[in-house]
Amino acid sequence: MIVAGQLLLDESNRDGTGMCRIEPGFIRIDDSHIVDVQVGDIPKTAELGDAQTLVSPGMIDAHLHFPQFDMIGAHGMPLLDWLSGVTFPEEMRWADEDYAKAMSRRVINQLLSFGTTGICAYATVHHQSARAALQIADEIGLRGAIGQVLMDRNAPEELCRDRNQLLDEAATLCDEFPAHSNMASAVTPRFAISCTEPLLEGAGRLASQSGAIVQTHLAETVNECQVVSELFDGRDYVDVYESAGLLGNRSVFGHGIHLGPRDRAKLKQAGATIAHCPTANSFLRSGTMDREQLTSDTVSIAIGSDIGAGYERSMVRVARAMIEAAALIGNGFPDAGTAWHTITAGNADHLRLSDVGRLRIGHRADIVLSRPDIPWLERNQNPLATLMFAWDDRWIQNVLLRGRSVYQPTSRM
Ligand code: GUN
Ligand code: FE
Repeated sequence: MIVAGQLLLDESNRDGTGMCRIEPGFIRIDDSHIVDVQVGDIPKTAELGDAQTLVSPGMIDAHLHFPQFDMIGAHGMPLLDWLSGVTFPEEMRWADEDYAKAMSRRVINQLLSFGTTGICAYATVHHQSARAALQIADEIGLRGAIGQVLMDRNAPEELCRDRNQLLDEAATLCDEFPAHSNMASAVTPRFAISCTEPLLEGAGRLASQSGAIVQTHLAETVNECQVVSELFDGRDYVDVYESAGLLGNRSVFGHGIHLGPRDRAKLKQAGATIAHCPTANSFLRSGTMDREQLTSDTVSIAIGSDIGAGYERSMVRVARAMIEAAALIGNGFPDAGTAWHTITAGNADHLRLSDVGRLRIGHRADIVLSRPDIPWLERNQNPLATLMFAWDDRWIQNVLLRGRSVYQPTSRM
């Protein structure tokens, strides 16, 4: 199959940063993978796409919570009140496996309709429900990782589970959905406040045995950092994760707003990644992550929607929020080409997904075709900035997963 249009191509640097540009051309898909990428004329015989079509790799969301999709918009609370007041009660619904299954399908359909084909996601503490989410995502063909959440304190009784049982269950999922499979299990201690030290240490051991991605939250609010300091004898937040064996080059830490120079140096040295969640940060008034500071300290930065603290399911709009957040604190901001890179190739690299995120020979054909209804190519302007700032999900014409169409607007739920 030939897919033609304006190809979103990527140039990456060795340090994990990069930039996208567009070029006319086509890709050829053989069954499920990209077998050719040609820049130049746009063939008239293409099965999909034309000169006005943006052909991009599927977008990747590096931090989101499946059970929180129905509670987007619970406004006006700081993080810890938001967790206890609305989030934990919502997550209790996943005690019902059938509910979790139906919701997982709904969530994945939504993600695809927004052009997201890769994820690093949280389920809940419920084992069968987390397994169901992994199974369904795997069947549908999404790429990435989902984790059973680990919590053994500071949450309602229904969500605090026995530590050893949790660790056994998480280990089972790591066996069933190993690292490097299309859909892998992620080791997912929620954050230091809701985990005892032995649970964090068990998670660290499981991560090193399994090679799984580790995902957790780090330094999202000042109040949270104070509670962590009280719970862990005055130790720094990053040190708590480090001493539990959770700080490594497969670790993805949500937020990372309130960090000092020593924390940033440790993250850098470990090769860990911060999953920046700009919409969630403004929504909960958590603070504004200093992207320039992290970048100048060469800490890796991925980007996530953090649904449901985040309210944007479109990764293009999350990327736009990243630009706006950086501009707000006035230390320089990324351009649109960099922002497009972050939600595609950049996130793929940071999540160690080596076969998605780029229009490249050998990659999975996870592709989004969009046809903007504005003159994005005719004016003497930056088309990628025009697309990002004017982005409209109604432009999405087709989403392919492994070469198969999984979403077209007429099929919208
Ligand atoms: N910190 C611990 N759990 C959560 C969560 O579910 N969402 C956000 N934004 N921060 C958290
Ligand atoms: Fe989160």
